[in-house]
Amino acid sequence: MTELLQVRGLTKTFGTFKAVAGIDFSITEGHCVALLGPNGAGKTTTIRMITGLLKQTAGHMVFQGSVQAGKHRELIGYLPQSPSFYPWMTGYEYVVYAGKLCGLSSAAAQKRAKELIERVGISTAAKRRIGSYSGGMKQRLGLAQALVHQPKLLVMDEPVSALDPLGRREVLELLRELKQETTVLFSTHVLHDAEELCDDVIIIRDGQVALQGSIDTIRKEHRKPIIELQLERDAYSERWLSSFLQRMNQEIKTGTKAGVFETAELDNRTARFTVNEVDAARQRLLDELSREQVKFSSLAVGHTTLEDLFMKVVTS
Ligand SMILES: Nc1ncnc2c1ncn2[C@@H]1O[C@H](COP(=O)(O)OP(=O)(O)OP(=O)(O)O)[C@@H](O)[C@H]1O
Ligand SMILES: [Mg+2]
Repeated sequence: MTELLQVRGLTKTFGTFKAVAGIDFSITEGHCVALLGPNGAGKTTTIRMITGLLKQTAGHMVFQGSVQAGKHRELIGYLPQSPSFYPWMTGYEYVVYAGKLCGLSSAAAQKRAKELIERVGISTAAKRRIGSYSGGMKQRLGLAQALVHQPKLLVMDEPVSALDPLGRREVLELLRELKQETTVLFSTHVLHDAEELCDDVIIIRDGQVALQGSIDTIRKEHRKPIIELQLERDAYSERWLSSFLQRMNQEIKTGTKAGVFETAELDNRTARFTVNEVDAARQRLLDELSREQVKFSSLAVGHTTLEDLFMKVVTS
């Protein structure tokens, strides 16, 4: 597998504030990679450094095996977090204009614009002013612009965050197709978007990489069994549950019977336990439930999801 981009020790400080604090990652050619993190994590800053729009304070990037300071911009197509268009231009004119800015001849820019407008699915609106486009159409036009010079790497900053559900769907569908053709890096704070599209994720928090790897590997490695217990509305049972939770948390803290329950949380009348030994934990719960005659409506065994892991990584 060829590495298209390697990022090493990338750092950006604004005054004394470290927005990006020395991050390392690689992007494999042909992969779709999500840069995932909560608001303020440093996604936009990282992306702007990769695109060459923002100078890093320290660190470097290697494209296709060689450091090409300044020259790598032509390898990248970029869709910013909030792209601005000239509302009086038509979509077609805009892509032609972007093509010429990238050094294409007039004829070549026109040819490429036609292809791309078609490709992103806005040909019926090609001759309409951009001012009349919906959010989804504008994002698709932004993608046509980003692809005009046939970049090796398509970089997008929160490509669907500002869209309504329909626009989101449209753009996600298009991205699903585009990722077959090119290497993609996009940022999002929505895990679901990353799961839907990506091979790899880089989770950043406070300017540092908190977790990275292929989604499948992360899912497998961090999957833990969970037991969920839901009670009926019953004062006695609810009292029992809160005292049981207290005891469990005490055991977890002190390490007695370590290894059976790992975490225990209560949300309304539902308790959620992550466990190491499912059979032992389930048996213990069942014993108590029957001995204390607790009125429960369900007891389910499952697994933690990537969402659980993401929440743990970004909030702990
Ligand atoms: N030009 C700047 N001057 C000072 N601080 C900045 C500047 N740009 C970004 N920051 C700070 O750096 C941190 C990271 O910002 P960044 O925009 O990269 O986050 P983000 O992950 O893209 O967030 P969001 O999800 O809100 O888009 C934030 O705390 C932000 O306030
Ligand atoms: Mg951002």
